[in-house]
Amino acid sequence: MIVDVALGSRSYPIHIAPELLTSAAPLLGPLAPRGRLAVVTDTRVAALHLPAFAQSLAAAGLAVDEIVVPAGEASKDWATLAQVSERLLSLGVERGDVVVALGGGVIGDLVGFAAAILRRGCGFVQVPTTLLAQVDSSVGGKTAINTASGKNLVGAFHQPRLVLVDPRVLATLPERELRAGYAEVVKYGLIDDADFFDWCEANAAAVLAGDPAALTRAIATSCRAKARVVAADERETGDIRALLNLGHTFGHAYEAEAGYSDTLLHGEAVALGMALAFDVSAARGLCPAEDAARVRAHLLAAGFRLSPAEFGIAASPATLIHHMRQDKKMQAGTLPFILARGIGKAFVARDVPLAAIEAFLGTVR
Ligand SMILES: NC(=O)c1ccc[n+]([C@@H]2O[C@H](COP(=O)([O-])OP(=O)(O)OC[C@H]3O[C@@H](n4cnc5c(N)ncnc54)[C@H](O)[C@@H]3O)[C@@H](O)[C@H]2O)c1
Ligand SMILES: [Zn+2]
Repeated sequence: MIVDVALGSRSYPIHIAPELLTSAAPLLGPLAPRGRLAVVTDTRVAALHLPAFAQSLAAAGLAVDEIVVPAGEASKDWATLAQVSERLLSLGVERGDVVVALGGGVIGDLVGFAAAILRRGCGFVQVPTTLLAQVDSSVGGKTAINTASGKNLVGAFHQPRLVLVDPRVLATLPERELRAGYAEVVKYGLIDDADFFDWCEANAAAVLAGDPAALTRAIATSCRAKARVVAADERETGDIRALLNLGHTFGHAYEAEAGYSDTLLHGEAVALGMALAFDVSAARGLCPAEDAARVRAHLLAAGFRLSPAEFGIAASPATLIHHMRQDKKMQAGTLPFILARGIGKAFVARDVPLAAIEAFLGTVR
């Protein structure tokens, strides 16, 4: 299956197919004019999937240079960016080459940014290996590292040349990581595709059990949705791409409170945040209460914990608002909140005072 991201001269295809990890040579060969490919991955993915990937490329006559960084969010930093960049330069990677990012969102963001600045910009290919990366971070060209001032604060828009999604690699992903990625899948239904949310209700169990057909359908629908949004609003200058932040403003506040640690994974925070976004929409009379209840029921059925206390987080509303104030999107003292008029009817609300959100959070503690 192929989903196109239509961005004029920066357009690229997303290929989705089982076993693609070991049959990628015909797609990668034409992007490797020197017959060599640098593959950057993390220690965990290197142990699980790099040998099969590299062997399949070598068998097709492509030489592979491997660069392995420690697994985990900490690798999205200046030091690792410098190491990866210097290594790519010492390997002689040229502007006309592509660098392959094999891993989750951490590797995609780090390698995408390295490619954006290497020799003022070389190509890169995303080979996402987490569900979150397959349905979200590998598509759209946002790349970044974290700094002492916060997450994703230094980066660039740099689109990949190609995205290769093999749902089979998710077989080795811990269930908690798979579920976290599933939050972003549900998000696309909640934003503007009520039929897909119906499908999620009927098929979440199959997706979370790793059923290949269900996973492929969930990934393809998500990639089509993300591709549409990115094509319409590549640099998030309008409201369209902002809708992808459904659940994220609340979620980021809880993630900040948890110190961006494994206590609360990003997708888990997004699930929490989406339930709150629908609750606040219902409380403001914007959305039927039944829809908010349905969202909460589905997320619970999918195994999400929807109370911060279940993650050991006991932040007061004032503390959460404090975290929200650090958001990159703060403008004139308030934040755009993604609210909903119902399932599949999300919209950007720019007129919600932070004080109203604080009062709402006080009622749901
Ligand atoms: N650029 C974007 O648009 C965008 C969007 C959303 C998130 N992000 C970023 O993505 C990052 C989170 O991504 P993530 O959740 O994929 O985290 P991650 O890359 O850290 O992967 C999670 C864990 O799973 C392991 N892993 C990866 N693939 C595996 C596999 N197939 N089997 C077993 N283990 C595997 C990794 O080694 C890691 O330990 C964050 O840094 C976030 O900021 C970026
Ligand atoms: Zn997200």
